[in-house]
Amino acid sequence: MKTLRVRDLEMAFVEEGSGLPLLLVHGFPLDHSMWRYQIEEFAQHCRVIAPDLRGFGRTTVTPGTTTMEQMADDLNALLDALGVHEPVLFCGLSMGGYVGWQFARKYEGRLKALVACDTRVIADSAEQAASRRELAERVLREGPSPVAETMLPKLFSSDTQARRPDLVQAAREVILRTNPEGIAAALRGLAERPDMTEFVTKLEVSTLVIVGEHDAISSPAEMEGIAESMPNAAWVVAPHAGHLSPLENPDVFNEALAQYITL
Ligand code: MLT
Repeated sequence: MKTLRVRDLEMAFVEEGSGLPLLLVHGFPLDHSMWRYQIEEFAQHCRVIAPDLRGFGRTTVTPGTTTMEQMADDLNALLDALGVHEPVLFCGLSMGGYVGWQFARKYEGRLKALVACDTRVIADSAEQAASRRELAERVLREGPSPVAETMLPKLFSSDTQARRPDLVQAAREVILRTNPEGIAAALRGLAERPDMTEFVTKLEVSTLVIVGEHDAISSPAEMEGIAESMPNAAWVVAPHAGHLSPLENPDVFNEALAQYITL
């Protein structure tokens, strides 16, 4: 991995290949490694940039609250630091998708297109926000294992859990080595993220919406509704996958993305 000084961070990222910049933005509470099958495939055609977001992987941890907007600002600064001046393809999963909406709100001119994977536009309910804040406190006291226990069953489909225990184990290891302060700060930021339902109905940028058939966090029905509400969105379901469609069904995911890039 490479690192660059970006705002108040040492930001770690993978950068491979050349051509169209493809920014791959991971979900919570993971790191760039959830994109392993896309890095491998698309570095042959694109300049793939897969960062670890603030508080995750090898990037600096900042305590307190990490908002989705702050992460979008970090990515904008990373692109500046890398000298990327041409429009980018921003591909974000779940929390990475929430960051994508904020990036589109602030830096729309930087976008060639958006790929919204297994993500949502609605804000947390008061109950969801409260349970995230409680989980943040628990993680600070006990370390990352409560978050691994809570999240892992929701991240993967039952198919994947049965057929690919290696993927589940790799995700568990990523979560367990994540700094509790980084997890807690992101949980607080997730709890206060804004509702983007109205925003996306006016977002003109070309968008590909992809969801796993068995996504337990952002359901196919909810994501189809998002795609339908957007002026310029295409829609794909990845069979057999849960919430981590790029990792669980890379064949369908990569094919959809490859077709979209050549449009
Ligand atoms: C993620 O995968 O980033 C999380 O599921 C997001 C969330 O909990 O809302």
